[in-house]
Amino acid sequence: MSQPCSIEADQLVYRYPDGRLALDNVSLKIAPGERLGIIGASGAGKSTFLLHLNGVLLPNSGLVRIGGEPVVRANLQNIRSRVGIVFQNPDDQLFTPTVEEDVAFGPLNMGGTPGETRERVQVALHQMRLDGYEKRSTHDLSFGEKRRVALATVLAMRPRVIAFDEPFANLDPGMVEQLIHIIQGLEATVVLISQEILPAVAAVDTLAVFHQGHIAATGPALEIASDRALLQRCGIDFHYYAGVWEKILNRPSVT
Ligand SMILES: Nc1ncnc2c1ncn2[C@@H]1O[C@H](COP(=O)(O)OP(=O)(O)OP(=O)(O)O)[C@@H](O)[C@H]1O
Ligand SMILES: [Mg+2]
Repeated sequence: MSQPCSIEADQLVYRYPDGRLALDNVSLKIAPGERLGIIGASGAGKSTFLLHLNGVLLPNSGLVRIGGEPVVRANLQNIRSRVGIVFQNPDDQLFTPTVEEDVAFGPLNMGGTPGETRERVQVALHQMRLDGYEKRSTHDLSFGEKRRVALATVLAMRPRVIAFDEPFANLDPGMVEQLIHIIQGLEATVVLISQEILPAVAAVDTLAVFHQGHIAATGPALEIASDRALLQRCGIDFHYYAGVWEKILNRPSVT
């Protein structure tokens, strides 16, 4: 099993070709094996940041290092063997006709034998509760099922760094719980973007709050999640749900 890697992002600036400034001097250090969550309003720059971790996007200035290795064009093959990204949209991840082929693609591409690959595919499909889906056409799956296949494609590669872009979206509650346990048990450095703050808090150690292309705060997950003024300032206050929870919890149990 390969060791988790550190991630260092130093003063990243990224403008999309139309001129929009999406990352405005973003610096972050993530220790090997740490699990960092990224929260922030829609459009804050979260996905743009994630796409810099394996060089899908390269910064206009600044640098990312993975385990000390710079993410630069000449080094991308090496970087991509270390960093797996689960994209926000599963259609960006899945491109072969069947579920089995999609999940096998990464391990085979990294030089895995057919036997090793089969074992990895089976484990990853089982983790994502996709046993029996092997021959299904990915095209025909529901959106939540596609998201689970996309997660399985990256889990099967067992990379040293796994970056998840909204992994809880479209998952049912049982699957959310299972995924939190899987993430907690990964021998990898984890970066996890989530608009759903509660599962993120359950899954990670630290949180970074993105706001309009920069980092507004980082700290222990519980500390950040309880700083209501910060969350309000950044447009992601979720404490409204506390009232809903109270109503549910204060009712006598039906069972
Ligand atoms: N291809 C693109 N061309 C131009 N602007 C873009 C492009 N992709 C994203 N942007 C802009 O860059 C900013 C950051 O986008 P990004 O996708 O990183 O946000 P996000 O925090 O992931 O949001 P969400 O929670 O909605 O996924 C936004 O203002 C967005 O409109
Ligand atoms: Mg996004």
